[in-house]
Amino acid sequence: MNEVLKDKKPILLSGIQPSGHLALGNYVGAMRNWVQMQHDYLGIFMVVDMHAITVRQKPADLRNRCLSFAAQYLAAGVNPDDNVIFIQSHVPQHAELAWVLNCYTYLGELNRMTQFKDKSKRHDDNINAGLYSYPALMAADILLYQTDLVPVGADQKQHLELTRDIANRFNNTYSPTFKVPEPFIPKAGARIMSLQDIDKKMSKSDKNENNYISLLDPPDVLRRKIKRAVTDSAREITAESLTQPGIGNLLSIFAVLNELQPTEVVSRFEGQQYSGFKGELADSLVAFLEPFQDRYDKIMGDKSYLTSVLDEGAKRARYMASKTMSKVYRKIGFVPVGRS
Ligand code: TRP
Repeated sequence: MNEVLKDKKPILLSGIQPSGHLALGNYVGAMRNWVQMQHDYLGIFMVVDMHAITVRQKPADLRNRCLSFAAQYLAAGVNPDDNVIFIQSHVPQHAELAWVLNCYTYLGELNRMTQFKDKSKRHDDNINAGLYSYPALMAADILLYQTDLVPVGADQKQHLELTRDIANRFNNTYSPTFKVPEPFIPKAGARIMSLQDIDKKMSKSDKNENNYISLLDPPDVLRRKIKRAVTDSAREITAESLTQPGIGNLLSIFAVLNELQPTEVVSRFEGQQYSGFKGELADSLVAFLEPFQDRYDKIMGDKSYLTSVLDEGAKRARYMASKTMSKVYRKIGFVPVGRS
């Protein structure tokens, strides 16, 4: 059908929920790896809007964020010719397979999901069935495309394990239908922490904007956030700084931005005041994000280009997904359309 899909590269799949603001943590933990791996894998990168509605969203914000996130994938360097980039709800097979997989997922399994427990605590006015069965939708996202590899941070490991269990259960009940995906654990040092709550992971949906660096923050905001970032009461960088929560995180951010080893950063700044280092870190951040933001603005200014990328991505995705879906329906005993 399509040159990209004829490619026999293994499949790498990931998705980000369009909530909050894409943060430096998302870039380092996810998007950067997508870009680095896109030559060896066929990347399937989604904006998972169907997941986002498990908590209430303002319609206009959701719409804008979906487009903005997709544009940021592109601005980060994900090549739309070599990858499949789309918005989840544009591919109806996600909802179809999620329903089927719900019937192969046990309540006992869903009850163990720690993200459900966390999110129900945070949104205790809206503990809906979608939030509960969300892992079946995530399993569908992955299994629809016969995915080989899913990059996962600590918070998604449990969902990927469940996906593997569901795939094996289905395959064993019928016959091999789904590829059982492997986790890809990004290398250590990829975990960026919150700037204020220094023992929490940097979250794009944090209520306190000072906790994260948005990829779209303007220079003055970037500088202010770094200046205010929490550090310990020592004032100078030493060999031990890397293991200190606040300053250690800032040092590893500097390392990532400048493609250095964290220990190289420490030797460069050893003996210097935190304040001087923070100034240089802010400069690095601005230098890193400015070209990203320029590319982003260009893409957002050309809506017909963005639309065509997303349409093409969804078309490729529907084609791949429909193959899996017809296998699934046939195996479970659904009557094929047009036959009796
Ligand atoms: N559940 C993931 C999260 O909250 C997002 C997600 C949805 C995802 N479907 C996926 C991630 C498939 C990887 C693969 O971050």
